[in-house]
Amino acid sequence: MRIRVPATTANLGPGFDSCGLALDLYLTLIVGEESKAWRIEHQLPDEIPTDETNMVIQVAKKVAPNLKSRHLIMESDIPPARGLGSSSAAIVAGIELANQLAKLGLSSEAKVRLAAEFEGHPDNVAPAILGGLVVCSKQPDRDYYVQHAFPDAAILVVIPKVALLTSESRAVLPRVLSYADAVRASSVANVMVAALMAGDLRLAGEMMERDLFHEKCREKLVPHLSVIRSKVAEFHGYAAVLSGAGPTVLVLAPHDVSEALRRELSVLDLEAEVKALRTEHNGVRVFE
Ligand code: HSE
Repeated sequence: MRIRVPATTANLGPGFDSCGLALDLYLTLIVGEESKAWRIEHQLPDEIPTDETNMVIQVAKKVAPNLKSRHLIMESDIPPARGLGSSSAAIVAGIELANQLAKLGLSSEAKVRLAAEFEGHPDNVAPAILGGLVVCSKQPDRDYYVQHAFPDAAILVVIPKVALLTSESRAVLPRVLSYADAVRASSVANVMVAALMAGDLRLAGEMMERDLFHEKCREKLVPHLSVIRSKVAEFHGYAAVLSGAGPTVLVLAPHDVSEALRRELSVLDLEAEVKALRTEHNGVRVFE
């Protein structure tokens, strides 16, 4: 059995901790035979454990405590700690592993609820489970979400070589927002989501770049964002925003400018890789 989970980009600017989009990079978990102890082989950085302390196994054991240990192989083209949902993909893989091996029959709603509990917010995990664009609201008693197709656009991601931990990037956020600021910030997010639903990427992009929840506070950690944003404006792209907590920058642009923009972003001296990606529509999938 193979479990495949897509990468995700969260926030889309003002949709902080609420909006996310699945992208076509994948974590694949190959489920092998039962073995004496849990083991997970991978080619990822050394700090990612290969024993039962690995996050995939930890999550699976919490969801189904009686699971028998297995030999697993994890392959992933989602770069770790770059803001493309690598840890959410691991959480979703762990939940699906438990779901399959313990035959839990979890609904998508139940998977989103569980995954958002593990991750703390639903914006990466929900699209990793459901695919496409997902707009979520995590409430103490229930998680609400709407899945929707994302308007057609070229998607580029600029992935810096140096990682940025989500914890570090969240540590610079304010603890309190005034009532007036919160009203203004959520009005920006509302128009952004409405514009996406209406398929108006030009307006959605403008709103994405007017985020008031997090990007300003994170600017010092991601100085490349403003450089990329200027270049995207020059090419009449739709928007450049932080992907999740960064450091990756998500760029949305009309298809006819995307190749020229990709080349231009690649030659900027940013110590980063530029990739063209697509929206992923399936979310987590299991192949027997
Ligand atoms: N919404 C989250 C953040 C995504 O921006 O911190 C990363 O987990």
